[in-house]
Amino acid sequence: MSRAETIELVYLVAAVCFIVALKGLSSPRGARMGNLIGAAGMLVAVAATFATPGMHRVWLIVIALVVGAAVGVPAARSVRMTAIPQMVAAFNGVGGAAAALVSLAEFDRTAGHTGFGTAAAVVFSAFVGAVSFTGSAVTFAKLQELMTGQPVVLPHQRLANATLGAATVGLAVWGLADRSVAAVALLAVVALALGVLFVLPVGGADVPVVISLLNSFTGLAVAATGAVLRTTLLIVAGTLVGASGTLLTRMMSQAMGRSLSNILFGAITAAPTVAVASATSDRPVRTGTVDDVAVQLGYARRVLVVPGYGLAVAQAQHTVRDLADLLEGRGVEVVYGIHPVAGRMPGHMNVLLAEANVPYEQLREMDDVNAQMSQTDVALVVGANDVVNPAARDSPGSPIYGMPIINVDQAQGVVFLKRSMRPGFAGIDNALLYDAHTTMLFGDAKETLTALVAAVKVL
Ligand code: TAP
Repeated sequence: MSRAETIELVYLVAAVCFIVALKGLSSPRGARMGNLIGAAGMLVAVAATFATPGMHRVWLIVIALVVGAAVGVPAARSVRMTAIPQMVAAFNGVGGAAAALVSLAEFDRTAGHTGFGTAAAVVFSAFVGAVSFTGSAVTFAKLQELMTGQPVVLPHQRLANATLGAATVGLAVWGLADRSVAAVALLAVVALALGVLFVLPVGGADVPVVISLLNSFTGLAVAATGAVLRTTLLIVAGTLVGASGTLLTRMMSQAMGRSLSNILFGAITAAPTVAVASATSDRPVRTGTVDDVAVQLGYARRVLVVPGYGLAVAQAQHTVRDLADLLEGRGVEVVYGIHPVAGRMPGHMNVLLAEANVPYEQLREMDDVNAQMSQTDVALVVGANDVVNPAARDSPGSPIYGMPIINVDQAQGVVFLKRSMRPGFAGIDNALLYDAHTTMLFGDAKETLTALVAAVKVL
């Protein structure tokens, strides 16, 4: 077997690793192993690349690897779990830029002397990679609160979009017809501007959906670059990222009860949604004490814990498990209701609760817990808000109207653990906080849960 054939074989092994990794990542149980298998595939692929015959300037690649590792490893190690979406955005943007630059460099190296198919792949990769780069940079800035997280629509944005879109088509035709490197480079510059304009009007809860979409863009750009370089591994890896990103985007928009076009273009095309704001905020709320709630929980038959973003902020996953164990020891049935978009990223609550070794069989999907809500004595809402807000079900005009929710308002009693009356991610009031069946227990979720554990112990 020649060296080139051996390398192809190694690439095939790496591609299989990526597929097995994705399979592992589809469940909390297999996620850790899946991640390791994916990383091993990547390592093997990078090592094989160094053995490619005719490699020049290897030192440049080594420098890039060292710089990349020096930035990436500490960033990934130190990132808080709640900041992972913006880290994904940053890494994704860099991937898109790399795909675009590599395609352009290859087009330049061959001075445009390529077949139509390769030129089309270069045009695609340069365009989509550049959109993904600046789009991801804007999503990063929004999530990192370097700019407003709300939708931003520039004056004459539709006209600007249309003009840049027309320029893109013109440059693509020119680039393909003349195999012009300059035209494709210009196209990439226009795409940088389009990436910004594409993401600016998306705001609030929709930003993580756009990250997932841009992730799939980067995957497709990488696959196109693979076609330019005739590297099977890049084609396979890019297609996997493109397909999984597309599926994830679809699942997230479905879980939020929104169409993708509404998420992306809602701010530009639609009439503004009614902000169901502080009309109710002056109303009194029923606050409870730790002892009251401990009694309510300790003498319940069935308790539903609904975790949300605040659980992650408070890092209260271990404490909530301690409380659940104590209650189960008293004969209370405890289940966790997991909303698909609770937290800030897909699977956020599953990951958190798995970290605290909460048994998988206690984690129930939204539809399951909703079906048993009338038999639930207490719904303990820990740092969640939007995912239990009845406005999503009952108030047409609410920005979250149409998002399926966990119907905790239909339980016998509801207890909210949160620090204040502040709204959740969507920025809207939650009428359930003022309901007669609701008890508010204010404070950091971890501190409150710790106090509840102590109080239940002495019941
Ligand atoms: P949110 O609606 O964002 O509510 C979180 C609540 O946690 C807040 O009301 C906050 O109230 C409370 N909180 C924060 N820190 C806390 C702490 N240390 N202790 C106790 N409470 C704390 O969260 P959710 O219900 O999980 O909903 C998720 C939102 O994110 C939805 O709008 C969803 O559409 C959006 N989103 C999620 C995803 C994914 S994939 N998960 C993707 C896109 C968008 P206080 O400040 O008063 O404490």
